[in-house]
Amino acid sequence: MPKEVLSAIQPTGDMHYGNYFGAVQNWVKLQENYDCAFGVVDYHAMTMPYDHKKLRNNTWELITNLIAVGIEPGNLFIQSLIPEHTELTWILNCFTSYGQLTRMTQFKDKSAKSSEDSGEGFISSGLLNYPVLQAADILLYRPKYVPVGKDQEQHLELTRNIAQRFNAQMGVNYLPVVEALFTPASKIRSTADPTKKMSKSAGEKHYISVFADEARIRKQIRSAVTDTGEINDGAMSEGVDNLFGLLAAAKKMEIHGTLMEDYKNGSLRYADLKEEVANALVEISNGFIAKKQALNVDKKALKEQIKQSSSEIRKIAQETIREVKELSGLMNVRF
Ligand code: TRP
Repeated sequence: MPKEVLSAIQPTGDMHYGNYFGAVQNWVKLQENYDCAFGVVDYHAMTMPYDHKKLRNNTWELITNLIAVGIEPGNLFIQSLIPEHTELTWILNCFTSYGQLTRMTQFKDKSAKSSEDSGEGFISSGLLNYPVLQAADILLYRPKYVPVGKDQEQHLELTRNIAQRFNAQMGVNYLPVVEALFTPASKIRSTADPTKKMSKSAGEKHYISVFADEARIRKQIRSAVTDTGEINDGAMSEGVDNLFGLLAAAKKMEIHGTLMEDYKNGSLRYADLKEEVANALVEISNGFIAKKQALNVDKKALKEQIKQSSSEIRKIAQETIREVKELSGLMNVRF
């Protein structure tokens, strides 16, 4: 049985409120109504210069974090535990236009960064093929929906092109033409510089970990940039808008409404807004921290559980690969 919803995330250290409100919170909710699979995609993490001594730890750390914030362990898999991902990638590579890959905006951005980070102008062909691996992640489970951020629109379009080209040549309707489910939450920005999105790569000040302790959250929110002093025709500043955005994402709609009234009639004190945002985040983080501590009591059991769920989810991937090989004229012998 195919999955209804498939998405994935790269294992890059800590989880922050940008990741959580921007994607993972939506996944947690989708689980209530759909049969979902969520992957930690470690093969993708190798496409940029990376530290092989940290990768495996980051993968387990992200798995733990995802469960701590509400993802069902049974819905989780690790990409490199399922060899069909790389197997399908090769096949799909042969149905992917080389020109289209070189035109991907993410490839252009990341190749510049790779070139710089490597210190020797190195750009791996894995980076060029990144979107094909992503298409394989998706098509292996033949889902209907793929919840992603707007920045993944081009990759989803490519996934549809690949599926259509494959289906057209084989004269079948086997690989699904998937639909993107764009995350409803607005982009969370850095509280230290609200012109930038919240991200780890910009440095410590620019993200708030969902596992941060109370003192740290309060400190970061207290020092959030509100008005920069520039006159902007009465429009709300990006910093204030971001704080309201955090309150809304944390589902504090009543407080949000009251404070918005105050803002509109000019009586809002930013200190009060910050206090409420900090309270909301502390409440969320405290729950996550407790859950994570409980999970860390028996790390071995957690790993076993994820190996088990990966092996269960793999069955769908095996079914797809068998059918794809059959259709494409490849050998299907099992030794
Ligand atoms: N490229 C995605 C991102 O950067 C991560 C990803 C990899 C993904 N494989 C996927 C997302 C499959 C959805 C489905 O966010």
